[in-house]
Amino acid sequence: MSFLEMLDVLNEGLINKGETPVEFDHDCREGICGSCSLQINGEPHGPDRMVTSCQLHMRSFKDGDTIVVEPFRAKAFPVIKDLIVDRSAFDRIQQAGGYVSVNTSGNTLDANAILINKQDADSAFAAAACIGCGACVAACKNASAMLFTSAKVSQFALLPQGQIEAATRVENMVRQMDLEGFGNCTNTGACEIECPKGISLENIARMNREFISANIKG
Ligand code: SF4
Ligand code: FES
Repeated sequence: MSFLEMLDVLNEGLINKGETPVEFDHDCREGICGSCSLQINGEPHGPDRMVTSCQLHMRSFKDGDTIVVEPFRAKAFPVIKDLIVDRSAFDRIQQAGGYVSVNTSGNTLDANAILINKQDADSAFAAAACIGCGACVAACKNASAMLFTSAKVSQFALLPQGQIEAATRVENMVRQMDLEGFGNCTNTGACEIECPKGISLENIARMNREFISANIKG
């Protein structure tokens, strides 16, 4: 069974005994929504690489193992109850600049009207794979949200459609990230290792370049 199914069985047992079930967050159960944020044996999403907690299976553990499950810990992710944390700080970072403006008056633009080279399209797509789970924050000794924020900046910075608001986007998203109380990046790289979607540290370097460029342009 999957790790979340194991928690379901645990909760069924608790409910049948008249006890309070353990609260945990989940939705898609297929690695898409990013809500199943669990610290399992000290690692975000458990011991396997490139999987979310809902994609982790009990075969990754030995029979009789003691498994320690905790909520993601960070000042900017306050614990709501049991294993559920409030990750709305990520939503506010997104709202600060994670969008593009599109003129919808007149005829619909042809999909191929703006040509994008394959390398940029692939890199933007890879950055857009971030599901906002928060494992990068939980893995970081500084609780930095740089990997998440840089993925959200990069998915637009690499495309022509993202250039119009590029400077204000990176400034506003970094400002919001700091306001939320996330720590600074000290290039340890734990975030990249624990990220279930393989988001690369290259995105942090790109965000830093975008930020410096925005400041120089004023
Ligand atoms: S960068 Fe990776 S670990 Fe961080 S929120 Fe996105 S998917 Fe999760
Ligand atoms: S429940 Fe959606 S990613 Fe795990």
